[in-house]
Amino acid sequence: MSKIILKLGDSLKLMKELPEKSVNMIFADPPYNLSGKKHQTVKSGKMVACDKGDWDIISDIHEFNEKWIKECIRILADNGTIWISGTLHNHPSIGVILKKLGLWIINDIIWYKRNAPPLLSKTRLAPSTELIWLASKTKKYYFDYDTAKILNGGKQMRNLWEINAQRHKTKHPTEKPEKLLERIILLGSKEGDTVFDPFMGSGTTGIVAKRLKRNFIGFEISPEYYEIAQKRINKEKLNGHIVYSDKLIKQNKQLKLFFGTTSKI
Ligand SMILES: C[S@@+](CC[C@H](N)C(=O)[O-])C[C@H]1O[C@@H](n2cnc3c(N)ncnc32)[C@H](O)[C@@H]1O
Repeated sequence: MSKIILKLGDSLKLMKELPEKSVNMIFADPPYNLSGKKHQTVKSGKMVACDKGDWDIISDIHEFNEKWIKECIRILADNGTIWISGTLHNHPSIGVILKKLGLWIINDIIWYKRNAPPLLSKTRLAPSTELIWLASKTKKYYFDYDTAKILNGGKQMRNLWEINAQRHKTKHPTEKPEKLLERIILLGSKEGDTVFDPFMGSGTTGIVAKRLKRNFIGFEISPEYYEIAQKRINKEKLNGHIVYSDKLIKQNKQLKLFFGTTSKI
């Protein structure tokens, strides 16, 4: 039975309550600091100021990043991994901090969203990617290479992931696709492990972790999003099913040779 712990509050404070080396994998989707009058986006074909919410406006993003990443590293198991998503507004800062804290950067994964909205402005290229840093404390970290290969139709998985942007009908403005989290959790943890998300938003990481029979700890500062996440995760059945990558797996005959059955992982 998975253990699920959800807490409402500031992750910087709540993380201090977690013991050292107590989680196996961390997925963090922190504020990107891309909101504000100067940043624009397209909504219903019109150019509007980008406003994800007050939580996305942080005066010293670098200082904030260093604080939460340090705390994550304290609670991460020695063979655990941390996966951090971001855009150009935030990923240079995250990269510098990972290096400064002496972490081993395993991969920079490019998440390519073919269905990203077009850009009305003709001053730059239309953004359609996010970057996910994958790092660990030591070079001996858990990574499920074989499952990655299976999910990639029997070929070695590369660091360019094409996954469409997709909302799962919550009010949260930056809800991540469950498909993305399914891949991350399958590669970075095993059944019974504890997955932690310090910025859980609408609870996408929690839903997928629970479905895949991992324990989950999630923190969220906004009462509105916390409630959404709580309801969403509580509703999710614990069934071990791989929902989004299942088709790929079934198509892959190698899986049957490897696992004997398609439902074992
Ligand atoms: C980019 S969103 C995460 C979205 C999430 N991955 C999902 O799929 O819904 C970041 C979230 O972090 C929350 N947040 C911001 N600062 C926080 C803090 N100090 N502690 C806890 N949560 C925080 C915001 O309210 C927001 O919901």
